[in-house]
Amino acid sequence: MSVFESSHPLVKHKVSLLRDNNISVKAFRELTKEISMLLTVEATQNLSIKNIPLTCWSGEISVPILADKQPTLVPILRAGLGMLEGSLSILPCAKISVVGIQRNEETLEPESYYENIISDIESRTAIIIDPMLATGGTALATIELLKASGCKTIIALFMVAAPEGIKLIHDAHPDVTLTIGAIDEKLNEQGYILPGLGDAGDKIFG
Ligand code: PRP
Repeated sequence: MSVFESSHPLVKHKVSLLRDNNISVKAFRELTKEISMLLTVEATQNLSIKNIPLTCWSGEISVPILADKQPTLVPILRAGLGMLEGSLSILPCAKISVVGIQRNEETLEPESYYENIISDIESRTAIIIDPMLATGGTALATIELLKASGCKTIIALFMVAAPEGIKLIHDAHPDVTLTIGAIDEKLNEQGYILPGLGDAGDKIFG
């Protein structure tokens, strides 16, 4: 598995602003969109390209374009929806697959309640989007669902992640690439990331 923590100054700046306990819903949504755009650029830097012939003003040339079908974005309900607009602004032709998984706050176990994966998932890169990777249970369940549906290449984007969640994904799925805005210190006893963002879903949906 490859784990990339963004070193982009704008990502660092914007994730820091997200941590403010007095942040408004409006500001949290705007920053989430902006960070999603930046992380989507970083996460797609290794997509394959191929050359095709093109007629331009000066004649016939060979130009690089994406070699494969557009990726499918996979927002995890509900907080992942907050990242969809930003990621789609970078990948406006992406297909969208939706997964509904909620963490049981008592057991911390993920519980699936909705799955809608595009039919040709086996021929597309899946890009999971979710603000937070905490215990990793939600992301693990999503990765297993995508693989069971035939997906062969998976990238996952998180604005903030805990080492515990990264290790869980690493041990189970070393082929999955993680692109992360900030790797935080640890989880607390309730499974919340420290210092973290608090409940990102509540902050996005109000
Ligand atoms: C949050 C977050 C992740 C999950 C991470 O969602 O958006 O999906 O928790 O936790 P884990 O790594 O320990 O599984 P939550 O379950 O609060 O649901 P929500 O998006 O509906 O608010």
